[in-house]
Amino acid sequence: MKVTVLSTSDAVASALAERVASTLRAGPHAVLGLASGRTPVDGYAEMQRLHASGQMDWSRASTFNLDEFAGIHGRHPGSFRTFMEDHLFGGVNLRPERIHFLDGAVTDLDEECERYEGAIAAAGGIDLQILGIGSNGHIGFNEPGDDLPVRTHRVTLMESTRRDNAALFGHELSKVPREALSMGIGTILHARRIVLVATGGKKAECIRQSVNGRITTRVPASLLQVHPEVELLLDEEAASLIRRT
Ligand code: GLP
Repeated sequence: MKVTVLSTSDAVASALAERVASTLRAGPHAVLGLASGRTPVDGYAEMQRLHASGQMDWSRASTFNLDEFAGIHGRHPGSFRTFMEDHLFGGVNLRPERIHFLDGAVTDLDEECERYEGAIAAAGGIDLQILGIGSNGHIGFNEPGDDLPVRTHRVTLMESTRRDNAALFGHELSKVPREALSMGIGTILHARRIVLVATGGKKAECIRQSVNGRITTRVPASLLQVHPEVELLLDEEAASLIRRT
C-alpha cells in the first residue's frame, strides 16, 4: 500500500481532487467509484471548484457509488444519493445517465445487486475507486465479520455504523435504516486503482490495523493490502499510529 501523509485534512482534500482530476485528464471516459461519508466532502468541494474554473470536465465520465441504504428512496433526504447530489453531482457536468446508484427502494434487493454488478461490468469496470473507512474498519458497508460477501449484496448494518450515520437522519438513530446495499470486497478489489481517504484521530486505530495488521475479514480495509494499486491519503492524525519503516 502506498501511504501518503499530508499535514492537514485540507491537503488530503486537495490531493483527492487532484487524483480524480488527473484520472479524468488522462482518460475523459474514466469510470469512477465514489464514496459518501464526511471525509471526501471537502475533496468533492474542491472537484466542484476545479470544474467551475474549467479545469475538470466530467462530461464523458461515469460514476458508480459504493453503497446505499435499503428501504428509502434516492430522493429521501438521508439517502447517499441525496448526499452526492448535494456535495458533488449538483456542481459538476456529469450526465445524469452516467451516474449509477444502487436503488434501495426496489422490491427485489438481491436482483438490484445483480443489476449493479452487471452495470459495472458493462461500463468496463471501475478505473478509480474512492473509499472512506468506517471507524470499525469497514469499507463501503462491508462490516467486520467471520466472512465477507464478494459481490454487491444486502447487509445488516451494525449499531455503531447506524450511529455514525445518524446525522443524515436528523440525529435520530431510530430513523437510520437497518439494512443497506453495498459493493462487495471483490467488487472493490476489481477496481484498477483505489484511493482511500481518512482524516482525524478517530480513524487512527482502524488505519493502523488496515496498514500494519494481518489481513482479516474482521478489518475489511485490511484486504486492500492485496491490491497492487492502492493509495491511502491520510492527515497526520489518521496516520499517527502507523508504523513507518
Ligand atoms: C459510511 C459509508 C462508508 C464511509 C464511512 C465513513 O458508513 N458507507 O462508505 O467510508 O461511512 O464515513 P466518514 O467519512 O463520515 O467517517
